[in-house]
Amino acid sequence: MTWGQLYAKSVNKLERFANSSWSLMTSPHPKTSPHSIAPPRTCLAIVLAAGEGKRMNSGLPKVLHSVAGRPMLTHVLNALGQSGIQDVAVVVGPGRQDVADCARASASSVQVFEQTERLGTAHAVLAARQALSKDQTLSKEYDDLLVVFADTPLIKPESFTLMRQSLAAGADVVVLGFEAANPTGYGRLIVDKGGLTAIVEHKDATEAERQIHLCNAGLMALDGRKALSILDAIGNHNAQGEFYLTDAVKIARAHTGTARYVTVPESEVMGVNDRIQLAAAEAVLQHRLREAAMRAGVTLKAPETVYLSIDTQYGRDIILEPHVIIGPGVRIADHVLIRSFSHIEGAEIGTGAIIGPFARLRPGAKLANDVHIGNFVEIKASDVAAGAKINHLSYIGDASIGAKTNIGAGTITCNYDGFNKYRTTIGAGAFIGSNSALVAPVTIGDGAYIGSGSVVTENVEPDALALARGRQAQKLGWAKTFRDARRKDRP
Ligand code: UD1
Ligand code: CA
Repeated sequence: MTWGQLYAKSVNKLERFANSSWSLMTSPHPKTSPHSIAPPRTCLAIVLAAGEGKRMNSGLPKVLHSVAGRPMLTHVLNALGQSGIQDVAVVVGPGRQDVADCARASASSVQVFEQTERLGTAHAVLAARQALSKDQTLSKEYDDLLVVFADTPLIKPESFTLMRQSLAAGADVVVLGFEAANPTGYGRLIVDKGGLTAIVEHKDATEAERQIHLCNAGLMALDGRKALSILDAIGNHNAQGEFYLTDAVKIARAHTGTARYVTVPESEVMGVNDRIQLAAAEAVLQHRLREAAMRAGVTLKAPETVYLSIDTQYGRDIILEPHVIIGPGVRIADHVLIRSFSHIEGAEIGTGAIIGPFARLRPGAKLANDVHIGNFVEIKASDVAAGAKINHLSYIGDASIGAKTNIGAGTITCNYDGFNKYRTTIGAGAFIGSNSALVAPVTIGDGAYIGSGSVVTENVEPDALALARGRQAQKLGWAKTFRDARRKDRP
């Protein structure tokens, strides 16, 4: 067995490990990396995130647009983490602190570089020139250099491994290719028996070359020892006057090196340049997430109507009815029923809870076991203890609600005075009458009753009844007298 094959085998093994530990319940980074297994082959990944994203027509940088509740840049950094690649440099556009912050929040050890002028993908890679030596004092190069685009959010960790295997087997440059249903806009791979001869950008391609459907996904692996000399040789004589990374292929070949390509399905490497492609990527990822949820024990009655986030954590025997939307940061325990048209984000839902229809759970909603949340109820930054019920038309914000408490229809926690937010604390076994306004800060003791229609501004003792509304008056016979008098007035 050659050294390359041996390496490929060990990476493969780790890849399987990374995939098996990659469930929706686990952290995106596997605990072991290929670096811990001999033979050690070092790798630097440079992630390009400096493009302007003009075609998005957006104030937000393209790579911060989300797919399945997570920025595209984060998807790519997570995929790198899952494949065991730890040394990562991200290239951001001039002054793009927001992109740098996102990169650092997504992977703790990334180095961030700024591309001060946008002169093309090869120019962007060289903005991270400093990161190319593993040990800068010894000028010790990495074995593998991976260049990854941040606008390719569906990339799977296996694809990085595939490319590195091809490098390990002796190629100088490896390109990730795919058969595009519609190749317009993509660079085309020109191949011969010896492998890849060139990549021609759509704008530079002849009519005949435009007929080719084998396209460049934008990911490239380069032999770390040759990468810099190849990248430095790239010029900008092309339709766009840019330094194209894709020219690395021609240059490697001209230096009697080998360029190869490996292919993966289009659904893993579709690039996102505009909002139509963003929606297409979302559709692919939603399809994956629905299938993963169903495999994890979640019933989706109409999967295509349910929208999920990539970080949702599920228990078993959950039912999501049609038209449920789950945003980022949601944990759902076993035996939860979420009924139609509910919108949930940043919430924890305990075992046996029933949510909706038409419920809204916002960030910081923590529901314990067997809680019931009914229609047109909004919960924000509140702890709801086991067995409590909030079944109709309520707003509960910045509150804690004790076990088995019943919150009547139309109850509102008045948590905001226009400047500050205040907390409402309700004990266990309390009963809040319908249409009550609880003006925070306020505490209602265990077992207390609040009369319907009360505006509660003072604390209520445990087991007390609080009435904070006008006392009812009754004038016997008044209505009849009134009607009789009015009728007499009529001609
Ligand atoms: C690129 C490829 C094309 C490939 C396609 C796959 C080149 C020249 N073309 O085209 O062959 O089929 O991706 O999706 O590489 N970026 C920078 N700085 C720059 C320019 C771009 O950081 O100066 C970043 C962008 O943020 C993006 C990536 O590089 O993440 C690709 O740039 P983009 O302009 O989207 O290239 P495409 O036209 O899609
Ligand atoms: Ca692109």
